[in-house]
Amino acid sequence: MSDDNGVIVRESPHLTSAAPFAGAPSHLSIAHPKEVRNVNGQAERALIYVARVPDDALLEHLRSRGWHVSVARSAADAARAIRPDAPYAGIVDVTRMTTRELTCLEGSLRQQQVGWIALADPGQLEDGEVRRIIRHYCFDFVKLPAASPTIDYLVGHAYGMVTLCDLDFVAGVASAGDDEMVGTCDAMQQLFRTIRKVANTDATVFISGESGTGKELTAVAIHERSPRRKAPFVAINCGAIPHHLLQSELFGYERGAFTGANQRKIGRVEAANGGTLFLDEIGDLPLESQASLLRFLQEGKIERLGGHESIPVDVRVISATHVDLDAAMRDGRFRADLFHRLCVLRVDEPPLRARGKDIEILAHHILHKFKTDSSRKIRGFAPSAIEALHNYGWPGNVRELINRVRRAIVMAESKLISAEDLDLEQYSGQEAMTLAQAREAAEKRAIESALLRHRHRLNEAAQDLGISRVTLYRLMGAHGLRDATASEDKPPAAGDGDGDAHK
Ligand SMILES: Nc1ncnc2c1ncn2[C@@H]1O[C@H](COP(=O)(O)OP(=O)(O)OP(=O)(O)O)[C@@H](O)[C@H]1O
Ligand SMILES: [Mg+2]
Repeated sequence: MSDDNGVIVRESPHLTSAAPFAGAPSHLSIAHPKEVRNVNGQAERALIYVARVPDDALLEHLRSRGWHVSVARSAADAARAIRPDAPYAGIVDVTRMTTRELTCLEGSLRQQQVGWIALADPGQLEDGEVRRIIRHYCFDFVKLPAASPTIDYLVGHAYGMVTLCDLDFVAGVASAGDDEMVGTCDAMQQLFRTIRKVANTDATVFISGESGTGKELTAVAIHERSPRRKAPFVAINCGAIPHHLLQSELFGYERGAFTGANQRKIGRVEAANGGTLFLDEIGDLPLESQASLLRFLQEGKIERLGGHESIPVDVRVISATHVDLDAAMRDGRFRADLFHRLCVLRVDEPPLRARGKDIEILAHHILHKFKTDSSRKIRGFAPSAIEALHNYGWPGNVRELINRVRRAIVMAESKLISAEDLDLEQYSGQEAMTLAQAREAAEKRAIESALLRHRHRLNEAAQDLGISRVTLYRLMGAHGLRDATASEDKPPAAGDGDGDAHK
């Protein structure tokens, strides 16, 4: 497969990192894990060790344990040492590093094929920036001084996790098909990291996001990366099933439970046994079913309608909604106790308009996928179309983008899709904009993406933006962003405190 405008590096069947456009025409490349071999031709595990002052004793120990260690003393060294197509374990020793150096390292820490472990002095963990870096990018951290075998053990784990992702990916190439998830922006990279982390646990996951942002795709990606991947993924759209049928759909019934129940029916919860149950549009679940679901989540058992037996069912529950459940809880339409059971881990889908360059990358991805819908050989997007893609607000998010690009593929009369083909001609005009308006728009975009990056945690977003929390709050008001962020007292986000998950 090739793409006229971009390089897409696939790293798993479901999470696709697409590199920004390379300018010159290039081809879709697939990353296969490569091993480093020693002089005897034996496979060695690659490890990148980033430290201002590397510890010789640790280095020697790691080498004696079969690691092929590359040492990097600076962010630039680290960036040079990491190959994009090979799995690595990584050690980042944050002692003696300034905040600025740490920030420069973020590019390398973000690399998906490196499983990072941080080494830090206990006192450094009081520094918010150090904590943020560890939380966002590392599988685990170790307080110094620490024994070399402990560090060897942890990097072994981190390496193992990264290799698993790659193996997933290799196995999934043939069947990758429709379900790829494309994203390079910070918010999507954060989402991918969260998916990987939550996949390893059995805790309930709540996915929130506007319509068409990829909530179901995320649920599938979590399932497929979890130990339950071989068991069923059962989805139920709570909003699409008439209320009076929901109980029997969810829990099934026994023969004779009601008129017309001629034979036993297994409900969706039971059908998902051993696997994952995806409750879509959970906000539409009527109160009666909320009570039964809560009972199931508490007891791990169901009773079929008309039955007297309690049947143990082992499922991992993922739920999603595009409605504001906080408001539903305030109005008494949704039980708070159920919400807290459903939302042990939370995943927020970024809206398409906040994904920057990814809009274009996704558009190319969709074009590539559907271009055979047209007999005409379509090569890409005209400048007017690219402009419109960025100016438009995408209320229907990725689903709308797919529909518009598919329509354009059919409608296009030239080799390049125009804004008109996308039915977005009014968004392509070079509208006159004063410098003040341009500044304001840029400010709003920066605030939106900082809020997204930090899942609306104002303190951290303000720190990123280099302003106080009070100023951020004021600017959010000025840009009409306060409602969208609701409050900071959301349930803990999945990325929080996940150092423990790997211990
Ligand atoms: N990051 C992505 N990369 C590629 N395709 C995506 C991505 N996100 C979503 N899609 C595609 O967009 C469409 C909508 O995604 P999905 O059904 O998961 O969204 P949703 O949030 O569940 O929508 P709704 O709220 O309408 O139910 C699907 O065809 C999905 O494959
Ligand atoms: Mg959906």
